[in-house]
Parts: sequence; structure tokens; C-alpha cells
Amino acid sequence: MHTHFDAQRRTTLANDRRFGQDNHHLLFEQVDVVELSRHYPGPFFIYSAREIQRNIEEIRSAFARHAATRICYASKACSLLEILHVVRDTGASIEANSANEIRRCRAAGFSGAEIVYNGVVKQPDELDYAIRQQLHSINVDSEYELDLINQISQRLKIDTRICLRVEPNVKADTHEGLMTAFRAKSGVDLSDAHRLCGAALKMPYVKLCGLHMHVGDQVPDAAPFREATRVLVNLARSIEQQFQFRFDMINVGGGIPTPYRYATDMGDGGPANMQPRMGAADFAAAVIDVVHEWRTDIEICIEPGRKVVGSAALLVTHIVGKKHKTLLNERGDTEGHVEWRMLDAGFNLVPDYKDWYYYVYNASRIDQPHQQAVKLGGPLCDGGDYFRVGPLGDQFLLPSASDVDDVIVFLDVGAYQIESQTSYNGYARTAVVLIDQAGKARLIRRQETFDDMLLLERDLPASTMVHT
Ligand SMILES: Cc1ncc(COP(=O)(O)O)c(C=O)c1O
Repeated sequence: MHTHFDAQRRTTLANDRRFGQDNHHLLFEQVDVVELSRHYPGPFFIYSAREIQRNIEEIRSAFARHAATRICYASKACSLLEILHVVRDTGASIEANSANEIRRCRAAGFSGAEIVYNGVVKQPDELDYAIRQQLHSINVDSEYELDLINQISQRLKIDTRICLRVEPNVKADTHEGLMTAFRAKSGVDLSDAHRLCGAALKMPYVKLCGLHMHVGDQVPDAAPFREATRVLVNLARSIEQQFQFRFDMINVGGGIPTPYRYATDMGDGGPANMQPRMGAADFAAAVIDVVHEWRTDIEICIEPGRKVVGSAALLVTHIVGKKHKTLLNERGDTEGHVEWRMLDAGFNLVPDYKDWYYYVYNASRIDQPHQQAVKLGGPLCDGGDYFRVGPLGDQFLLPSASDVDDVIVFLDVGAYQIESQTSYNGYARTAVVLIDQAGKARLIRRQETFDDMLLLERDLPASTMVHT
């Protein structure tokens, strides 16, 4: 198993378009990660603009045989302004989940007509803002929300394009919380769809454009997408017949997986969906084949998030402590030993630490075999703050000479990690660096400071004081 991990590391360094090595150091998009780390204190993320472009290009060419495809990048996967700029420069559209996410997309230069708006909760003030932006569509999640949209768009006298989000009742083989088309909190029952579409068609300012679904995130095979698209298409066809009108789009959501364990990796580590059996081409084939059985003249909207940014970032962290511990049983007998290496990043910066598999390499000694088993602890005063999913269960493999100050990188951390960072225990949210299209590295978010952490507690306006 040790050899599988190291064999994969060598394969990655030799063949992966993102990586290389020079002078014992890891290169990411030809930038020396260890040299770069000297410019930024503490842990930070590095994004590659080229990788984001390549991923979008891969999705675009997968959908080449359906020209009317709209790629709406799911901005919650990483919504930093500069990342949104990179996405916008590719010509893709965007997906948002709150009024503030819409504001971010607008600030990054997306027009209202390039934004689709999702979410199980859209409050009246958010809908008011969204309707004024004249979005490509609002994906309606409930009858309650449909009524709100009807009222607000009437009051504003603005036409509002909507899709109805339904739950196709299709399971996906992914983490339980990421399954969103089966007994999920989102969407309406299939059995309510005809009635709600009929109601929407009578609303003067509501323009019913299509149906929407999202099967799940990090779905490892294409079958659920094919099955769910068939459910959506059959439903759309029957609604069109009943009400004698035509939808102009169908939105099949996101879910294209990122390979966290690469296809060539013969070793172990993490749940099965970490090594998916499908990519953008399989997703596209599943969707297009079924939609074309119905119509070819319809816009297919897709909402990929993880696939766009997952492989586009590294977390750069450092060994900041070490110890050797004995594993005792309850009687005090020695059962083994554990080498701990402590990092300056824990679950405050990698919220998926518990059940996600990441390749972890020593960027300072990338040319040395990674064969020593270690546990990787984070800095938090929390017994649970250690990385759980490595090539040897909860153990990882590093060069035996790995020591304090070495730069340790986590691969493929571009999706959903930055967005969920916290400043738990007073540790700062990270800086983020972008390697742009020209290969130049620049800071796109600075590290949080102590003053930033106190900002919400200082200089409170007197009017917010509650006197009892
Ligand atoms: C409605 C919707 N669309 C798109 C996405 C993006 O999914 P992914 O990042 O797996 O492509 C999500 C993620 O949860 C979602 O809920």
C-alpha cells in the first residue's frame, strides 16, 4: 500500500498538467510552492486560473454537440471575486444561493441575465433584490416561495423567469448529506409539479421557463444523472402537453465529481466516491442523450461547482510541531507508536477533513520517497482536529526526514473549503494567492488579522443596544 501511494505521487509529478519539481521543491503551474510560501506567513491557498479555464473548457467540449448549453458555475464552491473574474472571462454564466452571492456575482461583472438563483430559503428582501436584477431564472423551491415571487414581481411590475425545482426521487452513491434528489430538503414533490406549473402560468409577472433539479454532489457514476434527467424530461413533456405551452430551458444542476483519488491510483483511501468512474463527458452524454429524445431546441442549463474549482487549488501548510507517542491499551500495555506531525492548518481551514481524501505531499522534499506513516494534527484545541482520511486509514505518508518548517500541501482543495473556513480558536482565515493565466502569482485575498476578528464587536452603534 505504501508503494501504491508513492507510485501515484511519482506518476502525478511526471504527468499531471499542474505539477512539476525543481530543486527538491514542488512546482504548481511552474511556480515553486516553497519559494512562494516565504512571502506569506501561515497557511494559504493557491488557485490556478489555467486549471479553472481548462476545467470549464472540458465541460464545454463535453457539451459541444448541444450548442444551447449554458454553464452556470456554482459560485458557492468558491466565490472570491478574482475567481469569479476568471470564470467570467471564459464566457460562462453563474449560479448563486443568496442575495449576497448575487451581489458578489454582479460585483464580478456578471449581468442579471447570466445568473441563476437557487436555494431552499429565499427571503422576501432577497427576492425583491433578485427580481430587480432580472435574472436568467429563479429556481423555485416551494409553493410558498412561488407565491412570494408572484406577489413581489406584481408589486414591482417586473417579469420574473422561473424554473420549478423538483425532486426526481433518484438516489446517488455519494456522502449522505450530498444526496439532493432523494428525501432531500430541496425541491417540490413530483406529484405537485403539474399543479404548481399550472398556477405559475396564471401569474401575470411570473414567466415559467423550465424545470430544475440537482442530483447531488461528488456523484461517482453517470447512471443517476441519466435516470433523473429522464424523470425531468418525462415530467416536462407531460406538463407541456397538459398546458399547451413550451418550456424554453431545462436545468439539470451540478454534481460532476472531482477525482480526489486519481484514476491511476491502485491504493486505498477514503470512500468510493473519492475515485469517481465518470467525468464531464459522461455527465454530458447522460443528459444530452435523454434531453434529445424529447427536444433538441431547448437550452440545457448546468450548474457545475466542484468540477470547475476542485482541482484548481492547493492548501499550503507547514509542519509546526512533532511528537512521538505510545499507543497504550486500557491495561497500560504498549500496542504501538504514533508519529505526530502538527500542522498550522486544521478543520478551521479544511472543513472536509473528516471524510474527504486529499493527497498530502511534502513540497520541501518532493523528490524523496513518501513512506513514513504519520498522523497529521491541526493546531486547534480540539481532540478531533486531526486529518482522518489518508492512504493508511487515519495515517498519511511523508518522507522520513520531514521536519518542522517543511511545507506540506493538500491537493485538490479548491471547492467548498475556503467558503466554510472559520476563525475558531482565534486562528486566522487564510490568504489566497492566484497564479494567473500568464503564470504570475498574486494575492487575491489577504490573511485575516486580529483586528478583523474584533471588527463585529467594536464600535457598535448605540441604537443597537437593548436596554432592559
Ligand atoms: C442546486 C445546486 N446546484 C449546483 C450545485 C453544485 O454542485 P457541484 O459542486 O457538485 O457541481 C449544488 C451543490 O450543492 C447545488 O445545490
